[in-house]
Amino acid sequence: MTRATWDTRLGFVLAAVGSAVGLGNIWRFPWLTATNGGSAFLLLYVVVILLVGVPGLLGEMVIGRRSRRNPVGAFDELGGRRFRALGGLALVASVVVLSFYTVVGGWILRYTVASATGAYFEAPQAYFAAVDFGPAAAGFHALFLLATVAVVSAGVDRGIEVATTVMVPGIVLLCGGLAVWVATLPGSAGGYEFYLSLDVAYLRANFFDVLVAAAGQALFTLSVGAGAMLTYASYIDEDRSLVADGTLIAVLNTGIGVLAGLVVFPLLYSLGVPPGSGGPGALFVGLAGAFADLPASRLVGVVFFGVVLLAALSSAISIFEVLVAYLADEHGFDRPRAVVAVGGLFLVTGSAAALSPSLFTLLADTMANLLLTVTLLGFLLFCGSVLGRAAIAEYERGAGRVARLASRPWYYAVTVVVPLFLAFTLTTGIEGLLGVPVSTAQAAALAVAVVSGTTLATRYRADTA
Ligand code: ALA
Repeated sequence: MTRATWDTRLGFVLAAVGSAVGLGNIWRFPWLTATNGGSAFLLLYVVVILLVGVPGLLGEMVIGRRSRRNPVGAFDELGGRRFRALGGLALVASVVVLSFYTVVGGWILRYTVASATGAYFEAPQAYFAAVDFGPAAAGFHALFLLATVAVVSAGVDRGIEVATTVMVPGIVLLCGGLAVWVATLPGSAGGYEFYLSLDVAYLRANFFDVLVAAAGQALFTLSVGAGAMLTYASYIDEDRSLVADGTLIAVLNTGIGVLAGLVVFPLLYSLGVPPGSGGPGALFVGLAGAFADLPASRLVGVVFFGVVLLAALSSAISIFEVLVAYLADEHGFDRPRAVVAVGGLFLVTGSAAALSPSLFTLLADTMANLLLTVTLLGFLLFCGSVLGRAAIAEYERGAGRVARLASRPWYYAVTVVVPLFLAFTLTTGIEGLLGVPVSTAQAAALAVAVVSGTTLATRYRADTA
């Protein structure tokens, strides 16, 4: 079977931006920003995106384009059978992420419809509590999943590429329109202040906590660690600059994230809702509930949740595609059969998450962060220790002069600096996960040990292949 490819370069970039821009930007980003000091979080987030996210994204793209396979096949092709498990880890990460993602996608779908009738305007808290988990939530999750299936089943170029070419500009236009409109609301100024003026004292007092939160968010938002960008890059069939594409993807994703903040925070302030209140439910309770007080409230609700729906869908299809590519490449499934099999899997896992709040929280909070970080760490150590020069050659293929100058710094970043940083965010998480107190110095020492140990083990494994 001939492997699918993107029709145009712009098509690939928009599909990747669609993968990156999602619930992470509109649901998770404002909530994390609000609970991590506003502008302090924004600053570290942008730094982490540039220094960790972009090199990591390029690492995934290098592996994808060089192998032209799904995550499992990619590591097999480039490193031998003994590295297939690394791709398997990405498959697990994509199952974990999409199993809760489609549940939130279902909530968004429900709120888009409910905005038209104003169903949640009267009692937003009670409405969310009634619809967040249970059989109806499982039903809306299934509808969202169906929309994902419809796009993916049409194929890479005719389905994903066509859909995201419409969706991404739609997200930018609608979100930009909302940002301009909220600026005209009385009381919105406090939101810009909270979001954009730097609170140095907060940053000093909470530096490492904010850094770790920013790191988790940077990986989630760039869709790295679950194999989505690896898979999308595997459909590139031209020699073009991965650096240019990767940077553009990160810049557009961060820009749209910042734009979403320019909608959410001024809106919260103008409506008198404290940012951060309500945690993950903030979007549905604080913000949505306050829509009722606005002129043209139903229209605002439909447009707002419509934007979030487009963003969520364009990301869900990229994670879904990871598993479809795996079944097609490794087990010879044709696309319709692969889509049905993957859809069936998520119907089960997503419904379980929609029925069980504790399962949902386990997947969305603990497992997603952990798995994305561990998987990306493995990918990058593979790039450095197994691919070595081949990674640099792939990075340089199609790159311009300036981008080539950065190939060595990039290589050392993905071989040493980014793995150390990822390992550090993992080790600082030990306290929350296992209840064992860990100081910053202990976490840093442990991170050095983890990276040196795994690098040596990876090299040994590659050498003895
Ligand atoms: N990158 C996707 C998002 O931010 C998963 O929602």
